[in-house]
Amino acid sequence: MLFNRIENMFSEDEIKHFLNMTDNIKTPVNEDGSFVYDDTTGLSVSKDLGRLQTTLEKIDSEHLMIKLRNIANSFVDFDISLMGATYVEYNSKYGTPNLPPHFDGDSTELIINYQLKSNTSWDIGLNTGIYDIKDNCALVFNPNESIHWRPRKDFKPGEFVKMIFFRFTNAKKQKDNSHLRYTLDHEAFEEANKFRDKLDNKN
Ligand SMILES: [Fe+2]
Repeated sequence: MLFNRIENMFSEDEIKHFLNMTDNIKTPVNEDGSFVYDDTTGLSVSKDLGRLQTTLEKIDSEHLMIKLRNIANSFVDFDISLMGATYVEYNSKYGTPNLPPHFDGDSTELIINYQLKSNTSWDIGLNTGIYDIKDNCALVFNPNESIHWRPRKDFKPGEFVKMIFFRFTNAKKQKDNSHLRYTLDHEAFEEANKFRDKLDNKN
């Protein structure tokens, strides 16, 4: 499986549920009003990635948990369980939104890369391909088999892309992919980097 696409993943009420969870997130700020970078409390802001990131501790809905499990199970032929959900907002107020080609190097077998809300478009790169994604749609792939990344993009002030990453692992036997935590200049990423660089010249 390279990837699958899910269109119209959640209903309006379900989207509202996630927006309620994420709209109240308080971004850590220093006394001078600047953002706290690399906080280790589960909520962090990365200048390099230009994003706010936080763990969604509890998806407070049995219905949603079952729905997510059923979706994930439809893509694999083994028992799978939800490891966690991470909310991410890319926005230039946090830094320079950027995602170079990488593997996750963790035990994720399947990630549902869900776009919750945006006011600009930003494609997703998988290996040497590029795929568009819209609000309430998701790309599903294995982030330890597919090199994933984003094209370089200048975010204008106020532009944002809000994502939720639902990560699933093998329920019986978790894989150790820590050897895939290559540095960004590793030769494994050469083709993807070349492809990504070429896109810069087109814009
Ligand atoms: Fe990743």
